[in-house]
Amino acid sequence: MKVCVVGTGYVGLTTGVSLAFLGHEVTCVDLDQAKVDMLRAGRCPIYEPGMEELLAEAAPNLTFTTSYDDGVPGADVVFVAVQTPSAEDGSPDLRYLRSAAESVAQALNHDFTVVVNKSTVPIGSGNWVDAILRDSFTQRSETPGEFAVASNPEFLREGNAIADTLYPDRIVIGSDNPRSLEVLNRLYRPIINQTFTPPTFLPRPEDVSAVPLVSTDLASAELIKYAANAFLALKISYANEIGQLAAKVGADITEVARGMGLDQRIGSRFLQSGVGWGGSCFGKDTKALIATAAEYNLEMPIVKAARDVNQRQRAIAVERLQDELRILKGRKIGLLGLAFKPNTDDLRDAPALDIANSLLARGARVKLHDPVATERFRVEQPELAPYLSETIDDLFADCDAVVLVTEWAQYLELDWSKFVGLMRTPVVLDGRHVLDAERMRRMGYRYLAVAR
Ligand code: UGA
Repeated sequence: MKVCVVGTGYVGLTTGVSLAFLGHEVTCVDLDQAKVDMLRAGRCPIYEPGMEELLAEAAPNLTFTTSYDDGVPGADVVFVAVQTPSAEDGSPDLRYLRSAAESVAQALNHDFTVVVNKSTVPIGSGNWVDAILRDSFTQRSETPGEFAVASNPEFLREGNAIADTLYPDRIVIGSDNPRSLEVLNRLYRPIINQTFTPPTFLPRPEDVSAVPLVSTDLASAELIKYAANAFLALKISYANEIGQLAAKVGADITEVARGMGLDQRIGSRFLQSGVGWGGSCFGKDTKALIATAAEYNLEMPIVKAARDVNQRQRAIAVERLQDELRILKGRKIGLLGLAFKPNTDDLRDAPALDIANSLLARGARVKLHDPVATERFRVEQPELAPYLSETIDDLFADCDAVVLVTEWAQYLELDWSKFVGLMRTPVVLDGRHVLDAERMRRMGYRYLAVAR
């Protein structure tokens, strides 16, 4: 099938490259010429494991362009995957979506095109996009073809984007037009039936044989995305809330989470406690859900609490250091990991940023390290950039405490015994509850945790 993807951020790029890999003829449109040039050269503008390999495998079916006219005309499906940043009041800023919809409408000419909202948009945006498309479309002197709007929310995690796309837990499509559901069903059939030959570097997991398809109305599909992200966020916050009680009563939150998670009704994933969640999605989506509910005079107390608990975790990390070191002024604290989670260089709403700023505000000095995100960090965080350490040795040298903020595999595999002697006081705060406390103590560290 002929597919056009507008926007080559995490979601758009992964969608475009994956569909091209599956054999569809895909054109990715992005207005950023530098990004398009990079992608044409086979290089990926974001750090995402496997993306460049998949780009190479999908190259024969893939075109990158800055012009809507190269991709929209004749397309069976147009995905709109532009950014929707948070506006001041927490609601998403839909400027980019509006302008993309208008440009798509100007170029539509196929007998039937499904225009799919792939960006996470407030409930009701399907109708809104439909209205914008229809206004722009009917203003044209000639209005060839027909279109319908659908929602196809994205559930991929950064760092696992390709596996989550090719082997998802489910695919959700929503439209009030049955023909568009049929087109999207056809588009995704290779994934639904798992009939494609897996990429060489990403074999099909043994337990994946077919993928459930949830085919529903537009508003339900839109709400599924928000409800799922908010639930994952509150699951983590719940583990963190229980973690604070665990610390008080002398229980081990990791053991508690394991014992809870083995109940299949609860499930063991997203119960990892620590400094809490960050990234571009959970914060933005929980905020937007609250903003949407407010439009209907509804409160979302559970979602609000999940956000409050999450923010508190970052403060607790700093309090732990203060309790241990008594005085933070003049102390040197090293932070291991800046990206909001491993396997990405994404720094949006990363706990490390709040922790570093809070330590600096209390008069401490900070040293910062990340195996992948430093280049982006220099550009996006110029005020904190002077505190970057080039090497792990440099980070540990003369530190009063080191905090493991992001659980990169590189940090877990470190020979920690080599660094204990470099520190002024060998305090380590395990921000993700992933280090072996006993082992750390044997090596001479004073081991602290956010909730252990
Ligand atoms: C999240 C969702 O998991 C995806 O399904 C969704 O598609 C995506 O948002 C989106 O809306 O685009 P992502 O933000 O990439 O994906 O990352 P996650 O793996 O969900 O992690 C989010 C944050 O939660 C990270 O900071 C991570 O460190 C933290 N986390 C995760 C925990 O603190 N504990 C856990 O047990 C799991």
